[in-house]
Amino acid sequence: MSEIAKIEIEGKQYEFPVVTGTENEKAIDISKLRSSTGYITLDPGYKNTGATTSSITFLNGEEGILKYRGYSIEDLAEKATFLEVAYLLIYGDLPNKSELDVFTATITKHTLVHEDMKQFFEAYPAKAHPMGVLSSMVCSLSTFYPESLDPNRSHEAKDLTMMRLIAKLPTLAAWSYKNAMRHPFMYPKNDFDYCENFLHMMFAMPTEEYKVDPVVVNALNKLLILHADHEQNCSTSTVRIVGSSQANLFASISAGISALWGPLHGGANQAVIEMLERIHQDGGDIDKWVEKAKDKDDSFRLMGFGHRVYKNFDPRARIIKKACDDVLDKLNIEDPLLDIAKKLEKVALEDEYFKDRNLYPNVDFYSGIIYRALGIPTEMFTVMFALGRLPGWVAQWKEMTENKEPIGRPRQIYTGIVKREFVELEKR
Ligand code: CMC
Repeated sequence: MSEIAKIEIEGKQYEFPVVTGTENEKAIDISKLRSSTGYITLDPGYKNTGATTSSITFLNGEEGILKYRGYSIEDLAEKATFLEVAYLLIYGDLPNKSELDVFTATITKHTLVHEDMKQFFEAYPAKAHPMGVLSSMVCSLSTFYPESLDPNRSHEAKDLTMMRLIAKLPTLAAWSYKNAMRHPFMYPKNDFDYCENFLHMMFAMPTEEYKVDPVVVNALNKLLILHADHEQNCSTSTVRIVGSSQANLFASISAGISALWGPLHGGANQAVIEMLERIHQDGGDIDKWVEKAKDKDDSFRLMGFGHRVYKNFDPRARIIKKACDDVLDKLNIEDPLLDIAKKLEKVALEDEYFKDRNLYPNVDFYSGIIYRALGIPTEMFTVMFALGRLPGWVAQWKEMTENKEPIGRPRQIYTGIVKREFVELEKR
């Protein structure tokens, strides 16, 4: 017999169906709550609200489990390539050899961006944050592909738009960096794979080839996979809610990139390095900064600590911590910020404040350190997160459109003034 939840309001009982996920997660389906009771639920930050059902990603924050389409993140990070994972997220299964060949060839074919877009880049000031540039450029793609404006046009048209975006994002990301440096843009090279090509566009110069280091390519592949999806987080929910108005894919992903930018979300990887630099410049007194983070009158928080859903450990952080050690070892890198990060991690993990609140290092605590070791400039860190998250956003947008989900439109409880008489300007 299916489960029922009973809610009593003003002495009257109402019944609501219980929905059970394939991992035995439970939800009370309150979609008829307002029409049957007149009440709504109030849940700031949506801490207890499921906005959708989804078959893409499963995560269990208490046990530190993350799976894409049933595959553990540990297996995927160890054994797959980023494009295989992108295919898995978007189409539901790992590709076989010929499916992967076609997918890779399609993406490789679309890596160039329209020459006219170069002029957009050139108009941005050198100090423009690359996230601002990236978000604008992704939205601008919609102006070059008017056929993408109707997300329901056809399966083929939808596929082409998704492939175009996955192909072009590394080019747009690398060019936003080149533009900030006022260096010439490097065109994509189709004999490189996805990660190699991005590194080439970032670091090669017309005067100098970029020598691809397999250690760097491996680390980048892993980082992108670890970031590829994370169910209904702030940016993904943004993509779904923008897409629910039937806005096109480029507009929806551009909004997701903006949502990712904030330091409480994807911007945390940049904020971690800036925090470590601050602590270093201040003399490296870890205890002082840990005390500041605990002080309720001080707005300082330990960036890279804590997570909305992981209350035990972040499984991505475990994998990345190991990758971080490997990369620093293999590239023979010594970094004073790394020493501070290690000390900070130890002090915070032993401190009662952090233990009581289940605050552990998250994926962004270590990703910033690896990006730094790979030579990626700090302001590009969140762009790297966006590159990794793109297949997840695309898969979630595709699922949302295929499920024909209704337009997202939360309610509110109004707490303002009830009635006021209008007073003419001269009398106010
Ligand atoms: N440093 C110090 N105290 C903290 C921190 C922190 N980093 N994070 C949470 N707390 C405290 C917070 O003050 C509160 O204390 P109290 O119960 O005494 O009021 C308690 O822990 C719970 O915090 P919360 O803000 O209610 O937790 P949340 O789930 O709303 O926020 C978070 C999660 C990630 C926004 C928060 O932990 C944070 O601001 N962390 C730093 C930013 C960061 O690293 N973000 C990256 C997240 S991982 C990338 C991604 O997936 O987006």
